[in-house]
Amino acid sequence: MAYTYTELNTPLRTIMTPGPVEVDPRVLRAMSTPIVGQFDPAFTSIMNEVMDMLRQIFQTNNQWAFPVDGTSRSGIEALLCSIIEPGDKVLVPIFGRFGHLLTEICERYGADVHTMECSWGEVFDEEEIIKEVKRISPKIIAIVHGETSTGRMQPLQKLGASCREEDVLLVVDAVATIAGTDIRVDEWMIDGIVGGTQKCLSVPSGMSPLTYNDRIEKVIQARKKVERGISTKKDISEERTRDHPPVRSNYFDISMLQDYWSSRRLNHHTEATSMLYALREGLRIVLEEGLEARFTRHKEHEHALVTGIEAMGLSLYGDPACKLPTVTCVKVPEGIKADSVRHMLLEEFGIEIASSFGPLSGKIWRIGTMGYSCRKENVLFTLGALEAVLIRHDVDVHKGEALQHALNAYQSKQKNMITQ
Ligand SMILES: Cc1ncc(COP(=O)(O)O)c(C=O)c1O
Repeated sequence: MAYTYTELNTPLRTIMTPGPVEVDPRVLRAMSTPIVGQFDPAFTSIMNEVMDMLRQIFQTNNQWAFPVDGTSRSGIEALLCSIIEPGDKVLVPIFGRFGHLLTEICERYGADVHTMECSWGEVFDEEEIIKEVKRISPKIIAIVHGETSTGRMQPLQKLGASCREEDVLLVVDAVATIAGTDIRVDEWMIDGIVGGTQKCLSVPSGMSPLTYNDRIEKVIQARKKVERGISTKKDISEERTRDHPPVRSNYFDISMLQDYWSSRRLNHHTEATSMLYALREGLRIVLEEGLEARFTRHKEHEHALVTGIEAMGLSLYGDPACKLPTVTCVKVPEGIKADSVRHMLLEEFGIEIASSFGPLSGKIWRIGTMGYSCRKENVLFTLGALEAVLIRHDVDVHKGEALQHALNAYQSKQKNMITQ
C-alpha cells in the first residue's frame, strides 16, 4: 500500500484555555536539543539545575524538588500514593472537579477518605477546614489551590500552621497556579505540593514538578523498597527493619524517584530527556521574568480581560472574592449553545477557549490567561472575536465596548507606570 501520511502540519492557534496553553518558542527550540544519556554528566547537571530552579519557583528550601514524568496527575498520584497506607485517614475539601480527582486517587490507594464540600463557584473559609482537621484528625489533608473547573482559588495562608500543630500532612495541587500566582511553600507550611507544566509554566504537558519537605520524606523513607534487580545487600537488610508496607505503585514510588534524583542516581525509569530540556527552559524563562513581575503580569491581563467581558454585557461566574487570576469563567447567556460559540471561535478565528465539567457543562466558558498565552494581543484578539461570534449568535452585546474598555485598562496601567 502506498505511504500517504503527510508531514505533520498543525494549525497555529491562539490558545486561551486553562491548559494546555501556547508554549514559548524558546521552549520548543530547547526540545530539539540533541539527546544525551541519562547518566551522562552533561545530563545529570541539567537534572541538578532543574531541581535548583524548581526550589526557587516553589519558594522553598526543601531538598527534594523534581518532576515526575507524566501529566500533572502523575505528580499528584505519586505524592499521595507514597504517603498513603491502606486505612489512613485523608481529608479532602472539594470545591470543584479536581477535588474529586484527589478523592478518587486517595480512595484507589485504600485511604479512609473524609470529604467536605462547598458550592461550586465558592471556596472554603480556612477556619472551616481547620475545624474539620481537628474533628477528623486525619494523617493527610489534600486540597486544590487553583480549581480550574470553577475558576476559584483557595486561600492557604493559615492552614499549614494548624496542620503542623495537629501533626497533619498538607498536600496541595498547585497545577493551575504554579508560576502564575504566588505560592509560598515554606512560609505557608505546605508539606508537599505538585505543579503542572502545561499551564502557567508554558511547557508542553508531560511532566509534573513537585516538592516535599522532611516530614513527608520521613514517611516515604519508612516504606522504602529498592527494586530487586538493582538493590544492594544493604538495601535489602534495611528493608527488613521497616514495619511500614512498601508503596503499591512502582512507577510512582517517590522513595525510588528520590534515589534517582539524588547523588546516588539509582536507576528507576529512563528520564524523559526532551521534556526535561523543555522544563529547564520554561523555568529559566520564569526566573528571568522574576516571580513578582510574572504574577503582576498575570493579574494585569486578567484585569483587561475581565474589564472587556463585563463591558460587552456578559456576566462572570463565581464569587469574585476568590477568583483564580489565571482563569476567567463567563456565564453563557440564556438560550445560547455554548459549544456552538466555541466552535465558531476556533473555526473562524483559530481561538480556543474551554467549556467546563459536570454541573457547569454548557453553563460557562472558561478563558485562561496563563504563561505565554497571557499576552495583550491574545486578550484583545479574544475579546474582539468573542464579540463578533456572539453577535452572529444573536446575543445583544454592547457593540464595540469590550475592546475599548480593555484598551483603557492597558493604557491606564501604562499611565500609572509613567507617573510612578
Ligand atoms: C487543578 C488541576 N489539577 C489536576 C489536573 C490534572 O492534570 P493533567 O490533566 O495534566 O493530568 C488539572 C488539569 O487540568 C487541573 O487543572
